[in-house]
Amino acid sequence: MKVTVVGAGNVGSTCANVLAHNEIANEIILLDIKEGVAEGKALDMWETSPVNMYDSRITGSTNDYSMTAGSEVVVITSGIPRKPGMSRDDLIATNAGIVKSVTENVVKYSPDAKIIIVSNPLDVMCYTAFLAAKVEKGHVMGMAGVLDTARYRSFLALELGVSPKDIQALLMGGHGDTMVPLPRYTTVGGIPVTELIEKDKLDAIIERTKFGGGEIVKLLGTSAWYAPGAAAAQMVEAIVRDQKRVLPVCAWLEGEYGLNDIYLGVPVILGKDGIEKIIEVELNSDEKALLNESAEAVRNVMQVLDGMKVF
Ligand code: NAI
Ligand code: 2OP
Repeated sequence: MKVTVVGAGNVGSTCANVLAHNEIANEIILLDIKEGVAEGKALDMWETSPVNMYDSRITGSTNDYSMTAGSEVVVITSGIPRKPGMSRDDLIATNAGIVKSVTENVVKYSPDAKIIIVSNPLDVMCYTAFLAAKVEKGHVMGMAGVLDTARYRSFLALELGVSPKDIQALLMGGHGDTMVPLPRYTTVGGIPVTELIEKDKLDAIIERTKFGGGEIVKLLGTSAWYAPGAAAAQMVEAIVRDQKRVLPVCAWLEGEYGLNDIYLGVPVILGKDGIEKIIEVELNSDEKALLNESAEAVRNVMQVLDGMKVF
């Protein structure tokens, strides 16, 4: 079972480390364009194997895609992260070209790979990869909802003084300030969250979640990597172990939720064939309005991509 992670920066190397540590794949290729970086990080990780007691083999590569041949899953994290004052959308000028060329190389050597995009602006980078890959829609998806939901769940756990393990939640929409956390679909040990927390506190947590990425950028001067790397690894695990996990994933919509021809975060069943089903839950009119607003924000960035004439 081979998994490739493209981009050996903060998110990519963290993801590869989680994959190895948890033995999610027995062969992991870490690839970067910067000479020696992927090889160096892969070697450093491999040297932890006797301490952390795993035997997943990690190998680094400087831009040699032949080493990625036959990958079952490829995680694409290559591209620049944002700096303070930047939005995710500001990254499109640089990242669209990178994601396009990386995807073309990936598909050349692993035509059946399930491709998980991490690079930002996430929803539009998924669209870029989908156009470049020319494979079936369920094979190209994005990681954002797992991270954003994890942030939401972790903040709720802090506020309620309970284990994050017991918090289940759903969050939909684009990976930006218009994302849509859904309190009606949030439970704590099976109890609706609205029974356990006052409305103003829940509203504050929803706001914090929407700007959770920016909160880390302000503190660190670059974007997060521990939670994003772990979130991408969870998606890889769902696919390689055919777990049929129900996770929020950025997926290509063709009529679901009344939306067409757009990548957006929705609940899906994730298994060996990638996105095996998009789950359509009932949304009330307020929730639907928020989802449409989020879709509109993503469409605006899609227009920027169209204007760039990358395709
Ligand atoms: P980073 O700068 O630490 O790493 C990016 C790596 O990509 C660098 O090592 C760079 O050399 C490599 N790279 C650039 N062009 C390449 C190419 N053509 N081929 C192969 N490698 C190439 O950045 P970080 O923090 O790892 O973030 C990566 C991306 O992920 C950013 O766009 C960031 O905004 C995004 N991100 C998305 C999240 C999400 O929830 N979807 C969460 C966190 C980050
Ligand atoms: C995050 O949400 C920046 O997308 C990145 O941390």
